This record gives sequence, structure tokens and C-alpha cells, in this order.
Amino acid sequence: MKVLITGGLGYIGSHTVVELSNNGFECIIIDNLSNSSIDVLGEIEKLCKKKIEFWSTDLRNKDELAQIFDTHKFHAVVHFAGLKSPGESVLEPLKYFDQNLGTTINLLKEMQRKNVKKLVFSSSATVYGDLTWPPVHEGAPTSILNPYGRTKLMIEEMLQDLSKSDSEWCIAILRYFNPIGAHPSGTIGEKPNGVPNNLMPYITQVASGEREHLNILGDDYSTHDGTGVRDYIHVMDLANGHLKALNYLNNHLGNHLFNLGTGRGYSVLDLVKTFEEVNSIKIPYQVMKRRPGDIAVSFADSSKAEKELGWKAERGLREMCKDSWRWEKNSSK
Ligand code: NAD
Ligand code: WQD
Repeated sequence: MKVLITGGLGYIGSHTVVELSNNGFECIIIDNLSNSSIDVLGEIEKLCKKKIEFWSTDLRNKDELAQIFDTHKFHAVVHFAGLKSPGESVLEPLKYFDQNLGTTINLLKEMQRKNVKKLVFSSSATVYGDLTWPPVHEGAPTSILNPYGRTKLMIEEMLQDLSKSDSEWCIAILRYFNPIGAHPSGTIGEKPNGVPNNLMPYITQVASGEREHLNILGDDYSTHDGTGVRDYIHVMDLANGHLKALNYLNNHLGNHLFNLGTGRGYSVLDLVKTFEEVNSIKIPYQVMKRRPGDIAVSFADSSKAEKELGWKAERGLREMCKDSWRWEKNSSK
């Protein structure tokens, strides 16, 4: 079955292409390389042991998108492409509206034109904002802390309207918690441009000597050690969630929302200590003041995904720390 993967050379997309391809799907990738490298394609092909068709296309380019949909009859689309920095989105909201909303509208129009009505969409736990105390389930109220989160929630709402307008749509919206880790081969992983916003890539860059120390952004939260608590999930488990979601859409019409997390929260200091222990490396750190917009605690209730998709995260924090470090060592050589 042919599946179109937008943003398939990015962090989560690349791992998902490997998972889908190794489970019998034929993946065709679109990526504009704005936050990824063409080298990732070669690594994916080695892990899949086959050639993968790649279109270096921007989803804003409607003509090229139409050409891709005219070339292939897709069974489904998995839509990762988009911008993902909450901080940047506060400074450049129009860029986020254009690139996240505009591109998704182009994609949905093409899907409708060619009668491709199965979609898996990358949403984020960021849509829960700061209203709910965890574990957060899918029925919890949403709240928006920045334009990035707004684009995710708006797309979710667009998708709900779409399935109400036409009952043939089968849509899985996946709200990811905090993806970290890398493929165990160490050949694909997360490669942020510039200074990392997220905790794990910052830690691995301190470990490699690229950065002097980690800044711990607040130690005065009401958590067991004062630092922020998150639900870190291995990217390989997340990739498997997309396989399960695609299979689910084969016999479920309508719009379906799933949290993908482990259901366990770890603090910044828990993560630093585990990383130090499993990799035998010291991570020097300084405590700084809180980052605006950060919440104290976030972790998922993923029981719906377990019950309905038959999906459960299997990898623990130690494995996440080992795999992140293996990838950093390989990629910074
Ligand atoms: P990523 O930046 O590594 O991957 C996104 C890919 O999309 C990149 O390869 C980029 O080049 C491509 N892309 C961006 N704009 C495009 C466009 N207009 N046309 C074609 N390609 C384009 O990000 P990721 O971490 O793999 O995230 C994938 C998705 O998951 C995103 O939608 C993100 O918002 C969502 N998400 C990510 C996280 C996270 O922490 N990584 C958490 C929750 C949700
Ligand atoms: C984790 C913890 C920080 C960096 C973000 C997005 C969210 C989603 C996932 C896309 C927090 C602390 C961080 C650092 C630190 N992405 N921290 N020093 O903020 O939970 O979520 O990524 O959808 O939308 O907001 O993840 O990795 O940035 O932070 O102490 O240098 O680490 O304060 O407690 P976050 P994160």
C-alpha cells in the first residue's frame, strides 16, 4: 500500500518511514529540506534495504503537489511537515500560519481531489496548554500558549469539520508528548539547526563538548525536585504508533484523537542523572530562571491508544538516553 509521508526526512518522519517500510508499506516522501538533510534519505534506504521515492517539494507549491497526487494512487497520507518551535512562533506568527495551516489546506484539497481520505496527523500535547493537571486524557480542555499550538489546534478543528462534511474521511490525530531517542543503529535521529530549544538535544551537545553546560530552566516548580516534569517518549515507539494508527484507519471512519506518551513523567534532573549514569558522562549544568510559557508538569493518559490502537510505549528512559547519545556521537563525527 502506497503512503505519502510529508516531512519524511525530519526527525519523527524518518523513523516512521523506516517502521512503515519494514512493515510492508511503500512510502513516498515529500520534504522541502528546510529542517532536514538529503543524507537522511540514504540512511533510511539502508535501514529499509530498498530505494524510497523522494520529492524535494514544498507543500506550498500546489502545482508540484498536484503532480505527485497525479503520479501515485495513495492509500493514505501521514502528515509531519511543518514548523515546530513555540518560541519562534511567538516572534513570527504569520510564518507559522502560512507554513502549518496553508500547507495543510493545500494537502487536504489534493487528497479530496484524488479521493484519498485516510490521514494521520502530527499534533502535539502543547494543545493542552496549562489548564489540566496530568495525567492528561484526550477529553481534557485545550488551551493555547503560542501561535504554534494554535496552528495545531486549528488543524485539529479543520479535520473535525472535514470529517463532519464527508463521512468517508478516516483521520487519526496523534498528540505526541516529548519525543527523544533515536534509531538504535545510530544512523538517524534529531538534528536541530542552531541552538537546540529542546532538552535532550541540548544535553547531547553538552555531552559531546559542543556546549559548555546545560541551563536548567527553573528549579522552583512544584515537582519532586523543583525542575519541570515531562513525558519523554522514545521516537521508535512513536513511529510504531503511526503504523498502528494507519492500520486502525482501515476499519474506522471519522475523526479519532490519541495521546502518544508513556504515562510517566520525569524531571529535568531525572533525565540528566539517567543520561549521566547510562552513558558514564558528566553533564555540567547551571540553574537559570524559568522559560516563559513553560508548565510545571505534563504527562499523558495514553490508555485510549492502548485500548483502541493496541499501542503502548515499550522503551524506557535509559534506552532513550543511550540511543540519543549513540546518535549524537555518530552524527557529530
Ligand atoms: P522536523 O522539523 O524534524 O521534521 C519536519 C520536516 O518537515 C522537516 O524535514 C522539514 O524539512 C519538513 N518541512 C517543513 N515545512 C515543510 C514544507 N512547507 N513543505 C515540505 N516539507 C516541509 O520535526 P519533527 O520533530 O519530526 O516533527 C514532525 C511533526 O510532529 C511536526 O508537525 C511537529 O509539529 C510535530 N510534533 C513534534 C514534536 C517534537 O517534539 N519533535 C512534538 C509534538 C509534535
Ligand atoms: C522539557 C523540559 C524545560 C531546555 C516542547 C514544545 C512542545 C513539543 C515538545 C512540539 C522543560 C526544560 C529545556 C533547556 C531545560 N513540541 N529545559 N533546559 O517545552 O515540554 O515541549 O517540545 O510540538 O510543543 O513546547 O520540551 O524539551 O523544550 O523542555 O531545563 O535547555 O526541559 O523547561 O521543563 P517542552 P523541552
